[in-house]
Amino acid sequence: MSRKIIIGNWKMNPSSLKQAEDLFRSIQKSVSSKIKSNVIICPPALYLERLKKISKKVALGAQNVFFEEKGAYTGEISAEMLFNIGIKYVILGHSERRTLGETNSDINKKIKMALSFNIIPILCIGESERNESHDYLNFIKKQIEECLSGIIKNSISKIIIAYEPIWAIGKDAKRQANPEEFREMRIFIRKILSDKFGAKNVEKVKIIYGGSVNKENVVEFLKENADGFLIGRHSLDTKKFVEIIKICEV
Ligand code: PGA
Repeated sequence: MSRKIIIGNWKMNPSSLKQAEDLFRSIQKSVSSKIKSNVIICPPALYLERLKKISKKVALGAQNVFFEEKGAYTGEISAEMLFNIGIKYVILGHSERRTLGETNSDINKKIKMALSFNIIPILCIGESERNESHDYLNFIKKQIEECLSGIIKNSISKIIIAYEPIWAIGKDAKRQANPEEFREMRIFIRKILSDKFGAKNVEKVKIIYGGSVNKENVVEFLKENADGFLIGRHSLDTKKFVEIIKICEV
């Protein structure tokens, strides 16, 4: 089995550096030294620098980055700042940021900025609902085309695609996605990418799944060739998170 990518998105948790450090240490301690998967924790930006100093087996990513290089942008964090503290990954286009107004065009600029500092974008895409007319396929196609507009062919293999149907995310999720839904989307995403970037260039692109991932459903998604997972709630609980990692190692 190929090397899986397991990403923990801590969102706006926990509420102190001490708790963040304890959680990060306990995850890192519970992860086997022979681990094959690539485990990445994305904490609030405020904790990145400290956690980076104690990171060994577990890597770190940011939850966002700004699309301009520097200047008068109150409240923003630049790709160069992340690069300067050794951060190699960034989640972009998460649905919770899109709800706050982030557009495909913003995300596109952020992807380009991250890549220019050798930071790997984890691009989140996903529809808010599904219906009989299959409109969601066009919605996903548009997200991919707009978010990846102008990305050069050689760069596509550096981008991780996280398919996260919005209806399956978080404690208020309508329901869990089933593996067949992921399979359909995985094939569809790869087809759009191949048409745009050429089949050869997209061979190595990882397509991961996110939305209410737990130790029960992870096996089913793996059977459908998920390249890994983006995990919210269960990444805040060492036991649950490490159980998922162990399943991905088998
Ligand atoms: P969840 O969150 O695992 O809590 O559903 C996933 C995400 O928002 O990335």
